[in-house]
Amino acid sequence: MIEPDVFKRGMRRLAAGVSLVTTVHDSVFHGLLATAVNSVSADPPTVLVCVNRASSAHAPIAGSGIFCVNFLGLDNDEVAQRFSSPIEREKRFQAGDWRDLGTGSPALFGALASLDCRVTQMVEVSSHTVFFGEVLSLELWTERSSPLVYVDGSYLPKSTFAASGNVV
Ligand SMILES: Cc1cc2nc3c(=O)[nH]c(=O)nc-3n(C[C@H](O)[C@H](O)[C@H](O)COP(=O)(O)O)c2cc1C
Repeated sequence: MIEPDVFKRGMRRLAAGVSLVTTVHDSVFHGLLATAVNSVSADPPTVLVCVNRASSAHAPIAGSGIFCVNFLGLDNDEVAQRFSSPIEREKRFQAGDWRDLGTGSPALFGALASLDCRVTQMVEVSSHTVFFGEVLSLELWTERSSPLVYVDGSYLPKSTFAASGNVV
């Protein structure tokens, strides 16, 4: 088996779209930034998110049985910072336009897309829980689809997309 550090060095080379995973539990919003998000199946529409059990949103997601995945765009970089640092935890939902797509989990107006989910399965894998969620509703907030991409320890700059001819 390889050492965790070697694994991390390798995984840094995997470019990933960045999402906010949010929930509401006992009328309080919680959330975290996550790249461990993926599509599982289209029928029924299912996604998965891998959440560290030490993160503050873990117990609320498990307790409420609902979450919303918000795919972030290039313009959402400040939100990304707020949701990936414990220092900003109390201020996370102060800025931003949060909408309810049905479950009550906060969906970020202005993200590339928001997927409102109910938890169908939870699988514990070492430090993380993999939450599988059936997508109950989906909102495309924008025509544009320039994603916020994380690779090798930082976010790709906007110029990456401008150079490729994509809409920014
Ligand atoms: C680019 C990036 C991707 C991340 N992806 C995940 C992830 O997929 N799952 C996870 O549990 N934490 C992930 N994190 C870490 C959490 O966002 C971070 O620990 C956050 O502060 C957790 O919320 P808390 O401080 O309220 O516990 C990621 C952080 C960054 C910067």
